[in-house]
Amino acid sequence: MIKVAIIGVGTVGQSVINILQKNSKIIKARAGKEIKVVKGVVKNLTKKRNVNIELTDNIDEVLNDKSIDIVVELMGGVEESFVVVKKALENNKAIVTANKALLAYHRYDLQKLANDLPIGYEASVAGGIPIINALKVGLSANHIVAIKGIMNGTCNYILTKMMNENVEYKDVLKEAQELGYAEADPTFDVGGFDAAHKLLILSSIAYGIDAKPEDILIEGIEDINQDDIEFAKEFGYSIKLLAIAKKYDNVVEQRVHPVLIKNTKMIAKVDGVMNSISIIGDCVGETMYYGPGAGGDATASAVISDLVAIVRAGRRKSPMFGFKNPVKLTDLKLVNKDEIESAYYLRMKTIDKPGVLAKIATILGNNNISIDAFLQKPILHDKQGATLLCSTHICKEKQIIAAIKEIENLQVIKDKVSMIRIDD
Ligand code: NAP
Ligand code: HSE
Repeated sequence: MIKVAIIGVGTVGQSVINILQKNSKIIKARAGKEIKVVKGVVKNLTKKRNVNIELTDNIDEVLNDKSIDIVVELMGGVEESFVVVKKALENNKAIVTANKALLAYHRYDLQKLANDLPIGYEASVAGGIPIINALKVGLSANHIVAIKGIMNGTCNYILTKMMNENVEYKDVLKEAQELGYAEADPTFDVGGFDAAHKLLILSSIAYGIDAKPEDILIEGIEDINQDDIEFAKEFGYSIKLLAIAKKYDNVVEQRVHPVLIKNTKMIAKVDGVMNSISIIGDCVGETMYYGPGAGGDATASAVISDLVAIVRAGRRKSPMFGFKNPVKLTDLKLVNKDEIESAYYLRMKTIDKPGVLAKIATILGNNNISIDAFLQKPILHDKQGATLLCSTHICKEKQIIAAIKEIENLQVIKDKVSMIRIDD
């Protein structure tokens, strides 16, 4: 029997414990041994929980217990969980974690500390979709050309509701939290950081590249409103928060931001808490993965797959990011954010008077940006103003940023200009 301790018996932890009990026979048959959770660690012992195991609020009780083979870290956070996982490794325990924030900052530290111990992290990206295994093992023959995906269930749930039910994002966020999709601090979700953490993990497997969240372009969905949704509907788009990694020459582009995507594309049809990731390999071409990106049981399914893999392999280590021999990290560089190319959509609140459109068009033209479509609508409750919605052809990020700065300096502009990139 393999003894497991779970640190963090919340949404995911409770599901892991219950599924291991409910599906114990098939899991034992697949792993070759019974996997038993012998203890769970929580912060608040008085909280009501739907589990039937011994609980403690003393992490050291499990870290110092020599009979425990595998520690499953489901407490979340970065520095505190790093100390816990580090100590567990020092005490010769294999690790399973769903914690993408921890991995975004400390994945290479953990790889070093692990020595011969396995660290499983299938649940850290895209909840129930076995994307880590697919990328690390299934696509190992390929150079990865691009990764593009919906990797945050909370944002996709919110954007789908905004699109289908004409509600504002704050009203739906509460629902996503109640369903157990959101992070303890939901700004990680709506700010794009959670999707960025996942992208960085996938990029380590795809490219062997070490980057931190601060190094890449991250924008969230907080500024998206019903004007943007209306524009999207008018011109046949959906709005999705996408995480994108692309390799060309010796650079890798990594970015997370909302994107207007034509409704005819498959990824535009991915709704609710579902995630979907497209990975293009140089041999295989495009492959696509779809499934629930958040929620207790879906995430637990991925956590347990790591437990099974570790037990099946007799706790033998497999390379954390799939590289037996390290790739030369210096070969690849992160692309400069200014050089990213895209088509853009702009939302501008203006005073409604002659010449405004011409002023904006002149600024865009002076920055060598070509306009694709324009839509004007009156601002509700304000007879003096108008909202101008405009899309452009492809240009560089630095061109659009410069143009936005100039537009915001115009006397006729009443608010910050909102920008969304348009999928190519
Ligand atoms: P959660 O419901 O907030 O549960 C966190 C658990 O950790 C709680 O039981 C909490 O104890 C415990 N905990 C926190 N700090 C602790 C400490 N210092 N000492 C002991 N216990 C501590 O979170 P969750 O949704 O299950 O997420 C867990 C991890 O999985 C996170 O890293 C998250 O990013 C990741 N994840 C979640 C999902 C999802 O859909 N929810 C999907 C993929 C990955 P109390 O209950 O006593 O407060
Ligand atoms: N908060 C995350 C999401 C959980 O909404 O996708 C899954 O990683």
